[in-house]
Amino acid sequence: MNSAPSTVKQGRILTGDRPTGRLHLGHYVGSLANRLRLQATHECIFIVADLHTLTTRNSPAEIAMLRENINEMVLDYLSVGIDPDHSTIFLQSAVPETAELNLIFEMLTPVARLQRIPSLKDMAKAAHLDNMPFGLLGYPVLQAADILLMRATHVPVGKDNEAHVEISREIARRFNHLYGDFFPVPELIKGQVRSLIGTDGQAKMSKSLGNTIYLSDDADTVNQKVRGMYTDPNRIRADIPGKVEGNPVFIYHDIFNPNTDEVTDFKQRYRQGKIGDVEIKRSLAAAINAFLEPIRQRRAVYEQTPGLVEEVLISGSKQVRAEAQATLLQVKDAMGLYRLPA
Ligand code: TRP
Repeated sequence: MNSAPSTVKQGRILTGDRPTGRLHLGHYVGSLANRLRLQATHECIFIVADLHTLTTRNSPAEIAMLRENINEMVLDYLSVGIDPDHSTIFLQSAVPETAELNLIFEMLTPVARLQRIPSLKDMAKAAHLDNMPFGLLGYPVLQAADILLMRATHVPVGKDNEAHVEISREIARRFNHLYGDFFPVPELIKGQVRSLIGTDGQAKMSKSLGNTIYLSDDADTVNQKVRGMYTDPNRIRADIPGKVEGNPVFIYHDIFNPNTDEVTDFKQRYRQGKIGDVEIKRSLAAAINAFLEPIRQRRAVYEQTPGLVEEVLISGSKQVRAEAQATLLQVKDAMGLYRLPA
């Protein structure tokens, strides 16, 4: 797609997110960091998976929020450094061929296999759906259609999506076995931090838990959120030895504070009860703010370019769709489906 002809790329990335709002630090360490790294060596395609949001949010009020959420999310992509001149960003619903491939893949996927995927049950529960909708059960199959329609070779995702990529691999193998070698079996790329603990110490940072630090949070908001972070609850005074392991404040320091000497010193003094939480948190907030500042600055520029996001999506979706149409015809030919003459 947008790959410069002079550089030989090592494969094709396809990944993306549901547009449910602004992205946070968990998204960054789970998947965005990998995307940025791979942008140099791989052809990258990023999907704004608006149809996937319908699996749990399909009321008119929720659908009405999509446009704003899409805008925010693509601004986040651009702000972290995804470069639309080198990567392709597209809107899932603008490529209806995906739905057709999804239908074909549905025939290759045992229901019982999908019923065993814990993330789908979790999503149903979180959305207060007591009956699993057909479409939610099919979530990973639709995701396979996204991935395989673009014949992606690598899929960087966070922990929640790892099982879904496994389904894509199974579908690719099954298709190739039945109809001949056609799809690359896409490789999962895990994040360096597969799941980021929330500011409240809960297992994962998640918008629905309200324990997030957004990539677009301003410095004051970050300071405030870090000040309120969960630490060792047994340490009611600074002179009591504290626990570093599993402590979100130190987990964040390890990830976001590039001054490793300082972090080592903090840990030592914390274990000895020789440093207060306030100092450790102040330094953490500064580190996170230093990390976020270039992202905020880029965002401010992009926010002032009206129509930018739409332009990026229109051009990306056009490219993806043209390729999707060609690939879908090849899929049908590979299957031996009768096609009416054009
Ligand atoms: N399931 C992803 C999410 O959690 C979004 C998504 C849809 C996706 N299609 C994809 C991710 C294809 C990777 C590849 O938001």
